[in-house]
Amino acid sequence: MLTALGFAVFVAAAVSAAGVASNFPPLPTVTPTIFDPEAPDPQQCPGYKASNVFESDHGLEADLTLAGPAWNAFGNDIPDLVLKVSYQSKERLNVRIQPKYIGSANSSWFVLDDQFLRQPQWDGRTTRYSSDLNFSWSNEPSFQFAITRRHNGEEIFSTFDHVIVYENQFLELVTNMVDDYNIYGLAENIHNFRLGTNYTQTLFNADTADALDENAYGTHPFYQETRYYKDQPSTAHGIYARNAHAQEWLMREDTLTYRAIGGSFDFYFLSGQRSDLAGTSTSSSSALDVFRQYQRGCVGLPAMQQFWTLGFHQSKWGWSSIDDLREVVANYSAANIPLESIWNDIDVYDQHRIFTNDAIRYPSKGMHELVDFLHDRGQHYVAIQDSNVYFPDPSNASDVASYPAFGRGAEVNAFIRDANTGYFYIGENWPGYR
Ligand SMILES: *[C@@H]1O[C@H](CO)[C@@H](O)[C@H](O)[C@H]1NC(C)=O
Ligand SMILES: *[C@@H]1O[C@H](CO)[C@@H](O)[C@H](O)[C@H]1NC(C)=O
Ligand SMILES: *[C@@H]1O[C@H](CO)[C@@H](O)[C@H](O)[C@H]1NC(C)=O
Ligand SMILES: *[C@@H]1O[C@H](CO)[C@@H](O)[C@H](O)[C@H]1NC(C)=O
Ligand SMILES: *[C@@H]1O[C@H](CO)[C@@H](O)[C@H](O)[C@H]1NC(C)=O
Repeated sequence: MLTALGFAVFVAAAVSAAGVASNFPPLPTVTPTIFDPEAPDPQQCPGYKASNVFESDHGLEADLTLAGPAWNAFGNDIPDLVLKVSYQSKERLNVRIQPKYIGSANSSWFVLDDQFLRQPQWDGRTTRYSSDLNFSWSNEPSFQFAITRRHNGEEIFSTFDHVIVYENQFLELVTNMVDDYNIYGLAENIHNFRLGTNYTQTLFNADTADALDENAYGTHPFYQETRYYKDQPSTAHGIYARNAHAQEWLMREDTLTYRAIGGSFDFYFLSGQRSDLAGTSTSSSSALDVFRQYQRGCVGLPAMQQFWTLGFHQSKWGWSSIDDLREVVANYSAANIPLESIWNDIDVYDQHRIFTNDAIRYPSKGMHELVDFLHDRGQHYVAIQDSNVYFPDPSNASDVASYPAFGRGAEVNAFIRDANTGYFYIGENWPGYR
């Protein structure tokens, strides 16, 4: 909803109270990264060789060992990796590459835990023979793999002729693309629906409204590719790269490059094979089936919403007082437009501090009356909550007392910490630096 309102929510936050040092740590200085044309080409890295290959009916496991001297393009090449290929379901194939040696201290850097984002699993019955897809690989000149459709050999992904780069702060994998390819997705973005063959999509969540051709609020590392033919039905497949780290997808004339600054290669290839034709001799794929397979098989269906949320909602940033709010509600009635819910933005707060209301502009008594009035008419009221919390001056008892919400949150350890200092993560947004 904040996106729609076109303003900001910064995860700033935090704060402290009891038992916390009274000196603020200095604000971090951020140096913008500037593209360096002299930057090393990661494709100079040596790649890997597969060994100890163990094949079973439902997949393959192997060790991947750095195939030459480390090139260390953007970090240090990780010498030992493991490969795990799993024919998870008829329409879904998983290829995962991650460091062989992972400890408790670095596990969260490389492995995205299932508790944060569901990890799709083998259905317990699909084998390489019943899958729609086929994994093939080669060690010449270094480890490379391809995914093809089992029934007609159509290649949907191929890293052939490119090296796989796996460094502690940089991952890169390149797939060959068909001429003039059509891919859609890699949200969130504001860009042409067809992403094009000369475009770079960065996925790194940022609080930027209406960011044309830039990274925006969310990260959905998934794309759908459709191939259109003159004299035969189009084909469709999907690719989901399960990784929460900042990443880039570089669409170029003949290739698509996937880069991330952490995590692992955890790719899910979706065949898009049409479910309504299952069991028949006809084989065909569709974009719709790709989305079904992505939602049901990978990320899960959206939560069912309450019925009233589907009604007409009015929200706006900039209503200066409760009088505006009353007038908007009354104007809807006068115009005979059914209004399901009315929303207040951060105007309602005292000095932009979440969990408060301004006693003069939005007095509690009047707000109670207005909300009761709405409820009596079967309408709803929603107060937007910003994620940033005012940080009172810990050395000023009356400042701390003026904003008890902070102390209560600090007590239950609700606020984000700076991983380097262990102290509250402090930023600047609506409520100010403090
Ligand atoms: C992760 O940490 C362990 C020690 O806990 C170390 O042995 C291993 O090399 C580290 N892995 C990587 C890829 O840096
Ligand atoms: C799988 O791909 C490999 C390499 O292209 C090929 O040799 C093999 O025949 C394919 N298998 C099937 C069932 O398509
Ligand atoms: C690709 O896009 C860049 C930047 O937008 C542009 O300078 C370049 O000419 C384009 N290349 C091609 C082949 O269209
Ligand atoms: C309510 O409607 C009146 C008459 O059209 C208009 O002047 C007024 O600006 C409206 N109030 C609000 C808060 O939009
Ligand atoms: C302490 O906090 C109070 C309440 O916010 C504020 O009015 C006062 O100026 C602060 N005192 C100092 C010395 O900053």
